[in-house]
Amino acid sequence: MAQEALQEALEAFLLKHKGMYFHKGITSPEVIDAVEHMETRNDDVFLVTYPKSGTIWTQQILGLIFSEQHRNGKDNTNNMDRAPWIEYNEHNIVFDNRPSPRLFTSHLPYYLMPKDLRHRRGKIIYVCRNPKDSVVSYYHFYKIYTKLQCTIDWKTFFDLFMTGRVIGGSWSDHIRGWYTHKEDYNILFMTYEEMRKDLKSAVLKICKFVGKILNDQEVETVVERATFKNMEHDPVANYKFLTKNLFNFDRGNFLRKGTIGDWKNLMTVAQSEQIDEMVKSKLGDLPIKFVWDIDDEPQ
Ligand code: A3P
Repeated sequence: MAQEALQEALEAFLLKHKGMYFHKGITSPEVIDAVEHMETRNDDVFLVTYPKSGTIWTQQILGLIFSEQHRNGKDNTNNMDRAPWIEYNEHNIVFDNRPSPRLFTSHLPYYLMPKDLRHRRGKIIYVCRNPKDSVVSYYHFYKIYTKLQCTIDWKTFFDLFMTGRVIGGSWSDHIRGWYTHKEDYNILFMTYEEMRKDLKSAVLKICKFVGKILNDQEVETVVERATFKNMEHDPVANYKFLTKNLFNFDRGNFLRKGTIGDWKNLMTVAQSEQIDEMVKSKLGDLPIKFVWDIDDEPQ
């Protein structure tokens, strides 16, 4: 398919609303707008990410921290029902009916989130990931969308990502928006890379933020069940419970490689430099340090 036709096919797959791109067909402007008026509670926890930054991993960690039944494997509620996406509420779950403490997930930019959160009513955990690994992960992910009726190539996807024409919009706008409005929220910033390098410390940090005290054995269980190799085979966590209608798992998985630095296998030097430039120009004034390789320290 010619480059232009391919870009058009990819964009036809998106719903644009209020400056943001969503997955067409599984949400609507009405559902998205309703989120802003959602009533939040002090003990709500909202997990917020740009796509491919460790969302389903952090969902698993939060679910394990909060549910003893999940920790001991006696609850087969899947993680999407446990911590539903607020902007993809296609089954019209009545969030008000859910018992506290409620867990939610979102890829929304700060300005579309429930307004109540700005009064620090509810907690937010924002997880970000270095953009080189995010875009590579995202490219592989786009290939498993069932409804995307075209074969995507890396260069086209990279260009769409760099111009924000993917679900979740611009990576740098997402992060910048959340960081520069952090004073309005009760928010904990985490990185995929810190979770990957020291999962136990990340779990303890999250426990402290959400006010959950677990004993040593419980913490060990959370860590163990949140490792890549265990999540891969965990039917409530690996997302294979999603219908074939949405994802074709013959082409790939949500849990793909789970590491830092895989971008080096795909990205050209020029693309890598383009990302370095974007990070410098869009986020250079913010105190965010990225880790680009499994052996690196933040820089
Ligand atoms: P890769 O495609 O690089 O492997 P999201 O949940 O935001 O869609 O992010 C998906 C990415 O998180 C994928 O990255 C996936 O493998 C990774 N991931 C999920 N669970 C993980 C885990 N337990 N440990 C490490 N990485 C994990």
